[in-house]
Amino acid sequence: MSSTFPRQLVLAFLAVKFIFIIIYETLTRGKGKCKCTTKLEGKVALVTGGNSGIGFETAKDLARRGATVVIASRNIEKSEAAVKDIIEATGNRNVFYKSLNLLKFSSIEKFADEFNKAYDRLDILVNNSGSSLAKQSLSEDGVEKVIQTNYVGPFLLTELLMDKLKASQPSRIVIVASVAHEFHDIDAEDVVGMKPAGVWTRYSNSKMYNILWAKALAKRLPKGVTANALHPGVVKTEIFNVLSIKVRNIVLWVIGTFFKNSEEGAQTTIHLCVAPSLEGVSGEYFEDCRMSAANRVTNDEKLVDKVWESTMTLVKDRLPKSL
Ligand SMILES: NC(=O)c1ccc[n+]([C@@H]2O[C@H](COP(=O)([O-])OP(=O)(O)OC[C@H]3O[C@@H](n4cnc5c(N)ncnc54)[C@H](OP(=O)(O)O)[C@@H]3O)[C@@H](O)[C@H]2O)c1
Repeated sequence: MSSTFPRQLVLAFLAVKFIFIIIYETLTRGKGKCKCTTKLEGKVALVTGGNSGIGFETAKDLARRGATVVIASRNIEKSEAAVKDIIEATGNRNVFYKSLNLLKFSSIEKFADEFNKAYDRLDILVNNSGSSLAKQSLSEDGVEKVIQTNYVGPFLLTELLMDKLKASQPSRIVIVASVAHEFHDIDAEDVVGMKPAGVWTRYSNSKMYNILWAKALAKRLPKGVTANALHPGVVKTEIFNVLSIKVRNIVLWVIGTFFKNSEEGAQTTIHLCVAPSLEGVSGEYFEDCRMSAANRVTNDEKLVDKVWESTMTLVKDRLPKSL
């Protein structure tokens, strides 16, 4: 888009779009509550980033419904505290933590290997972990760090857990994307994000990849394994810790006053995990517990396939030959 239109016009368009989104988010606060009473006894759920924010509230809700819940992230102390809090709040003792660093393919492989050995099923996989790092830099695997944490890492993790998901049909893959995908500037040839880009663009790109990925999975998976993406709303969480303390305090005050808390922000994720009406629904995008339209670029089948193939090229050496 930026190469076809004058830059000022593009910026003005994006600013208007941003204002509309903010007004919409403010007006819809508190709407979109998952009212499903689904029980999950005997089911296994994995929530990445379950030690904080939206992931924590999701893990707690799934535990309350009786699932065995595994939360996966880097910070051990925070994760152990989250497990304790969830057990205390729900009375469900089948809540566990496993270490996972999406910034390292080796950590993802180790995690998947241990998970596959420890659990005989995986009914719900919530790819929730996410971050936005200010500085553009590459992981040890040669992938831009925001893109790896939010997209390429979860992509590899999901492929390594795919046999379990297929064996547990009907099973669900839930991908926490963002309305930020609207501000993408993606290049299907540059999935690793080597092109110089600011933090907002890299974050937006990673979230656009999330939605394209849900669509690509829906085309490739058996009907019993569904994959959907969502925007949780603007939610007061630690993801804004990347901002300087002064800016953060203002942003968190505004979000706390006008937007969602973590429990409200988890509702659409929970809905995608448990809603009986979504059995067999795949490749869609949701906001406030309702199906919604993502940016029209996500309807471009060629782009969906191209991004899938580029990402496969990045991770294929890490996958068993049978996949
Ligand atoms: N908050 C919002 O307004 C908003 C809006 C739209 C979308 N989202 C999306 O919602 C999701 C959850 O974010 P949140 O707002 O709840 O933020 P948060 O409270 O900061 O949670 C982020 C989680 O991701 C984990 N994580 C970060 N880097 C990781 C890595 N390399 N490997 C494994 N786990 C990692 C963190 O745990 P460790 O640090 O312990 O690893 C943490 O549990 C993200 O995908 C975010 O992009 C948020």
